[in-house]
Amino acid sequence: MVKTIVVEDLWKTYRLRNLVIQVLRGISFNVEDQTVTCIIGPNGAGKTTLLKIIAGFIEADRGKVLVFGKSPRDASIRRLIGYMPQEDILFDSLTFAEHLELLKNTREGIIVDLEFVYSLLEKVGLNKVLQLNIGKLSGGQRRLMQMILTISHKPEIILLDEPIAFVDKENRETILEIIRKLVDENGSTILIASHDPYACSIANRVLELRDGLIKEVKV
Ligand SMILES: Nc1ncnc2c1ncn2[C@@H]1O[C@H](COP(=O)(O)OP(=O)(O)OP(=O)(O)O)[C@@H](O)[C@H]1O
Ligand SMILES: [Mg+2]
Repeated sequence: MVKTIVVEDLWKTYRLRNLVIQVLRGISFNVEDQTVTCIIGPNGAGKTTLLKIIAGFIEADRGKVLVFGKSPRDASIRRLIGYMPQEDILFDSLTFAEHLELLKNTREGIIVDLEFVYSLLEKVGLNKVLQLNIGKLSGGQRRLMQMILTISHKPEIILLDEPIAFVDKENRETILEIIRKLVDENGSTILIASHDPYACSIANRVLELRDGLIKEVKV
């Protein structure tokens, strides 16, 4: 199997004045092509930190990440990654369509699959609120929109941080089905970070992050 993501001996410590938080203590694993890998672990375990390093947003103190053999910061690789952070990054004063325009204008080479996007919006019941500014939506609706924006161009590599947080049971199922389909039909490779075992139910492989170390969980 092709190793799409290679994570080798990652170490990360946050230092704030006299406070030292050692988050990652030598993390290594691979993510194979066209699979879903899920990182599970309690609050504060370092899942978001790990995903941000893999997405190329922050640097590890030691170790390396390779995506298709290159740094995730390489422009040719960055273009292939769809990353949904844990925090809400949508603009209150813009509509969904305006976010889509923003995405197309700021991410070079992106081709949004509009038919796919509008079918997803309908599936999760967001078609009724499309003309509203994001600031007028509920927390769950915002999360669903952020998810749909992330996968709107069917990226080859998708990094999802707490993808089903705030989402109701029915839509959680729908979202996970969509994610699985992106792997099985589109050939995407997906890495999920979550504290919720349900988010890992579609995974080929589950890894538990605890006390700065990772271990394989039987699925
Ligand atoms: N920028 C930062 N500066 C200092 N400490 C940080 C920073 N980001 C995270 N931390 C600390 O690192 C630890 C891991 O945080 P992280 O967000 O990676 O955990 P997590 O597993 O994603 O947790 P959650 O399940 O709550 O999302 C926490 O103790 C947090 O306080
Ligand atoms: Mg987190």
